[in-house]
Amino acid sequence: MTTIGVIGAGQLGQMLGIAGKKMGLQFIFLDPSARPPAATVGPVLRYAFDNEEGLAELAAGSDLVTYEFENVAVAAIEKIAATGTVYPPAKALRHAQDRLVEKTLFTTLGIPLAGFRAIDTEEDLRAACTDLGLPLVLKTRRFGYDGKGQSVIRSETDIGSAFAELGGSDLIAEQWIAFDREVSAIAARNVSGDVVSYPLTENQHEQGVLSVSKAPVAADELTEMANRYLTSLLSHLDYVGVLALELFVVGDRLLANEIAPRVHNSGHWTIEGAATSQFENHLRAILDMPLGNTEALGHSGMINLLGRMPGKAVVSQMGDCFLHDYGKDPRPGRKLGHVTVVADTPAARDERLKSLGKLLII
Ligand SMILES: Nc1ncnc2c1ncn2[C@@H]1O[C@H](COP(=O)(O)OP(=O)(O)O)[C@@H](O)[C@H]1O
Ligand SMILES: [Mg+2]
Repeated sequence: MTTIGVIGAGQLGQMLGIAGKKMGLQFIFLDPSARPPAATVGPVLRYAFDNEEGLAELAAGSDLVTYEFENVAVAAIEKIAATGTVYPPAKALRHAQDRLVEKTLFTTLGIPLAGFRAIDTEEDLRAACTDLGLPLVLKTRRFGYDGKGQSVIRSETDIGSAFAELGGSDLIAEQWIAFDREVSAIAARNVSGDVVSYPLTENQHEQGVLSVSKAPVAADELTEMANRYLTSLLSHLDYVGVLALELFVVGDRLLANEIAPRVHNSGHWTIEGAATSQFENHLRAILDMPLGNTEALGHSGMINLLGRMPGKAVVSQMGDCFLHDYGKDPRPGRKLGHVTVVADTPAARDERLKSLGKLLII
């Protein structure tokens, strides 16, 4: 029996485990949390993510290692790769961890994006405001997620406070994009180099956190463009696994925002809404199996359940939908679960999302 070792035992690890169990795989996780979501699908080694002993135990206890979040130390992945197998490769992780390295890669590959500058001093930031124009968004280069580590600069008077708020170095300034909408492109590449991609997903964020995703986006040219960008990233990074690319749509153009070297929240709809889920395809990719069909089975919508889960009375009124409960303790704004609807038409999907939204008061 094949055992997959996963660094991180959050909801992404849990959903990987659920998909993998159906494929006859076993799982073991590494996570310091007391009761992480993935504990329901496999044993958890309770060590810090960078603990050498824990990482060695994970590698020794599994045939293959993968990870569910991008803040794993690159050195840890390199160490596992020296004697065993770990995907996605360290090279991809290195690029995804640092917004400056990531955006420089987009530039190198000819993928359009918002203007940006590295910021290490307040003078750098003043110069960026002049060069790129306002508004700007100042971000930490590393460790940002769900909109954390960001500050929007609308006028020159915001410069000092934004700079101080984010710690004053290892920052990046980007032009603020008045986008028409945000989309994500998700693809999988296996060890043999075969690539499959999902239909584009449209994403709505609330205060930097994903709130609602809808797929497929009916836009053939944008889809084709996004797939071209994804394909060049996948081959440049010798990528293996699922890769997500977040993009801004501006008219008929796409501007790349960031990549995630893992299964992605905007791809949760694929569990019920695509022939093969992103979780199954990630596992197929790292095991060098043939990749599964990514076709949408209908028109899907996903709502993130943030801060609290619906009670019994609400659930009984939710109708035909798929409710996922990650089993986490509620905390304001925390991702506790999600709901997916799959409908026959975009209008029916939107109608279902609207009534669910009212019920869940999102
Ligand atoms: N340059 C930008 N212009 C407009 N909106 C932005 C910009 N950068 C980030 N945002 C908004 O903030 C969200 C989170 O930012 P992102 O860079 O994706 O960081 P995170 O790693 O937290 O997901 C984006 O999905 C988008 O809605
Ligand atoms: Mg993002």
